[in-house]
Amino acid sequence: MTGKFDWAEYKQSVERYYYPIAEAPKEEDRSRVVGEATEWLLSREPNELREEFLVRIYGSLNRPGCDALMAWLDTTDFWIAPASTRFHESEPGGLVRHSLRVHEELVALHDDLIMRYPETYDRSYSPQTLDIVALFHDLCKVRYYAPTGRWRKDDHGQWYIKQEWTVHDEVPLGHGEKSLFYVMSKMGLTAEEAGAIRWHIGAYEPGVVHGYPTGYSHGAAKEKWPLVGLLQMADQIAQQRESTPKE
Ligand SMILES: [Fe+2]
Ligand SMILES: [Fe+2]
Repeated sequence: MTGKFDWAEYKQSVERYYYPIAEAPKEEDRSRVVGEATEWLLSREPNELREEFLVRIYGSLNRPGCDALMAWLDTTDFWIAPASTRFHESEPGGLVRHSLRVHEELVALHDDLIMRYPETYDRSYSPQTLDIVALFHDLCKVRYYAPTGRWRKDDHGQWYIKQEWTVHDEVPLGHGEKSLFYVMSKMGLTAEEAGAIRWHIGAYEPGVVHGYPTGYSHGAAKEKWPLVGLLQMADQIAQQRESTPKE
């Protein structure tokens, strides 16, 4: 897959997708809300983020289906989506920045824990496995957020419409389950990779407090596959680094 990519064309396609689902105080504000959300796409940063993402995903051996998955992502809002509405990485591009950060944390944790606790982490994982589970763990957030404009007051008490995000769940399959669906619709995974992506949200999955059916599976997966716990930790560390106080 080449790095050639037309950002102006991509911006237009994302605007076409966002326009009907964007929320604005008044109908005539809709274009402005979408425009403000996507303006960032023609700045320098998204090119760097996308290039960095491609370098990392193709740094390890290319797995069949990876090209198709990346080509599909180019048709979605992946390169602009935030990682949350307001909790962490809620700016445009936040989802990619978060995914890259989780990747860094996972590689660091993997190398450190296996070196220090070989009896606990009695296996190591290939760079390809670490790349795939970290970089694709949050694909559930693709086509999940919509731009919204909300009235806010600036420092001088003046009202203005601030561009924010709201949830517009186009494919309501859950969290880890949806990431798994998107990845596996294009590319094969081992059971352990699938488990790591499925359970990456860990204790934040409400069902894990009930033994049947979710809690037992989650507990067994963590015990059987060290990768599950490693990805959960990497995700948590990344989110803690990203969290900023909000008004
Ligand atoms: Fe997640
Ligand atoms: Fe995440």
